[in-house]
Amino acid sequence: MQKLVSMENMSVNVRSEYQSPIVATLAQSLKDGFENPEKLSGRCQFEFFEENGKIHFLSVQFDPAVLTLSAEPFLESDAQISMPLSVAEKIIANLEGVDYRDPDIIGKMNMSGNLHIVNHLAKALVKPSRATQSTFDDATERYREAYSMTSILYLDSPTELQILETIESKQPFIIRHLEANNGGQIKWTLEQLRSKYADVLLRVRSATEKETVADFIDKLMHLKKQKATDIIEGHTKVYTEGCSLPWQMIDDFLPHYFTPHDFTEPQIWLGSVPIDAPASSLHRDPLDGFLYQLIGRKKVILFSPDQARCLYPMKAYNNYQPCWVKPESANFDLFPLFKSARPVDVILEAGEILVQPAGWFHAVYCLDSPTFSVSYFLRFPVGVESSELS
Ligand SMILES: [Fe+2]
Repeated sequence: MQKLVSMENMSVNVRSEYQSPIVATLAQSLKDGFENPEKLSGRCQFEFFEENGKIHFLSVQFDPAVLTLSAEPFLESDAQISMPLSVAEKIIANLEGVDYRDPDIIGKMNMSGNLHIVNHLAKALVKPSRATQSTFDDATERYREAYSMTSILYLDSPTELQILETIESKQPFIIRHLEANNGGQIKWTLEQLRSKYADVLLRVRSATEKETVADFIDKLMHLKKQKATDIIEGHTKVYTEGCSLPWQMIDDFLPHYFTPHDFTEPQIWLGSVPIDAPASSLHRDPLDGFLYQLIGRKKVILFSPDQARCLYPMKAYNNYQPCWVKPESANFDLFPLFKSARPVDVILEAGEILVQPAGWFHAVYCLDSPTFSVSYFLRFPVGVESSELS
């Protein structure tokens, strides 16, 4: 059976013969979250296998006008994703919080072909929680007075109270003149990281690829210069892209303020990214974030939360909200409102921490390679009563 459903400027062609309710739910989530403002076309073959050898297919074809979902396999496709059906079940059980970097997910997937298409569909699958949506709505309302910010504020060795008060005033800022943690060091080199943490498991890339700190740093040290056009987010950068900071490394990279329990799990951003490609493309986070720079400099382009309509945020998102527009190469034909956006450019030096209140949009670029940062989010938003969180 086949039916056509009309979406904004797009038809969705749904064939509803999925034998697995898990695949049917996944197809429905894709349909709900799919957008195509860049007017791309492609075919992606999802394969979900059961322990008994049975394979379920989800075939996705899209062009600027139509999205077609089917349980019939393609003869040929541009991109392929395969995983156990149990992993698909884990994803749909937590669309509001799933993180594809989770080793229990990425470590059981295989992806091939056009990885831009894989990214496009993976991003369409998730959905925001009501709490995240209301954080962003609240940010848009409460941050209007920050709209006039034209340069970043610096705080020299602030107290925790000053930090909390400045976050509550909804202004981003940079902390300078940090004191070393427990007699440790503020600035690091790759050689120091390799010698101290060589055998620590850094990240899992797929069902067949795992990397230790030594594997990753050796690859980084022998890297030929990459071009921006070689970069596919999440796949081809020699960059850890915010995987969890290994627990063995936490003591050396504490955030200097508050206690580790005040923060969510820290993330590591280590590697090399060409200067004209984003290390992290434009997005916003629903928690107050700390970005601690340890090797090299980064450029961060900030936009206040009330500028959302100029930045084309994606409809489907969960733990952070990506935007369609790319500040480094904006297509004004597709995204004309971006002409009115007012960015604030910030240079973050090694030994400094950038603090961003929830809801500020940001894109991150590496001015130097290698680069190394650790990021933290405060577990509970500053200035929000706990009763408002439920
Ligand atoms: Fe972020």
